[in-house]
Amino acid sequence: MMFFENAPAKITLSLDVLGKREDGYHDVEMVMTTVDLSDRVALTSLEVDHIAVSADNQYVPNDERNLAFKAAHALKNKYHITQGVRIDIEKNIPVSAGLGGGSSDAAAVLRGLNKLWGLDIPLSELADLGASIGSDVPFCVYGSTALAKGRGEIIQELPPPPITWAILAKPNIGVSTRVIFNRLTLENITHPNTTKILNAIKKQEFNELCNHVGNVLETVTTSLYPNVQRIKEKMILAGAKGVLMSGSGPTVVGLVEHQHKAVRIYNGLRGFCDEVYVVRVIGHSNTC
Ligand code: C5P
Repeated sequence: MMFFENAPAKITLSLDVLGKREDGYHDVEMVMTTVDLSDRVALTSLEVDHIAVSADNQYVPNDERNLAFKAAHALKNKYHITQGVRIDIEKNIPVSAGLGGGSSDAAAVLRGLNKLWGLDIPLSELADLGASIGSDVPFCVYGSTALAKGRGEIIQELPPPPITWAILAKPNIGVSTRVIFNRLTLENITHPNTTKILNAIKKQEFNELCNHVGNVLETVTTSLYPNVQRIKEKMILAGAKGVLMSGSGPTVVGLVEHQHKAVRIYNGLRGFCDEVYVVRVIGHSNTC
């Protein structure tokens, strides 16, 4: 039997780092939501105790290093499942882009196998398991809009944000989250105001939200890849209301209220930037 699960990309609305922890991770406060750019994960149950994974993208490993493989492995281990699975991933989300593609694929495997194998595990338990695979996997298990704390695994769900459209622009570089966090110096960073972001979402105030979006990792990524800053400036000039880098980058997100404006900014960025997308912000979990 084959089963399909949607794996939406995530965008960051706010990313703050509160401190470095003894386990090497950083304590964060992140507000994230989902967009309608998605990978599609096909799951085929196997009688044999084996996990096979393949993705139609040369930058994604087709072996145990794939987060989707790790998800299936962790689920089988924890719940003593002897069936196997073949995972086929149609990649539409750019890789190493700060859009959570690999984490979302892993989360889709957890949700999908939960249904395919009739396990009936609550989402909160799947999210806990997801934390052992990667810091962004718990958020992706919910696939909604949320405040993530701790190293990213403590999830507080929020209503969808007051944004309809976003432009995603990714320069032709892949960024390692580990490298960016390792280069972050905690002195002299300008923290985004997470409370104001949360209030803007609660009150559904688009302009207020756009005024407060921010990501402390931007200075690190732009110092390594100045192109990210240039794309930000272009987006602001083109009229995007809220502009920030997503996750550890390099994708830049521009928030706009109307589709025609999003398309105009998209057309202005094509040719300047390797991959550009116009997406709808979804931000609630029934998209998964
Ligand atoms: O959890 P994940 O494997 O996705 O994290 C990749 C790397 O990013 C970690 O090894 C760590 O160096 C860094 N990281 C961090 N603090 C976080 C999340 C990730 O320092 N909250």
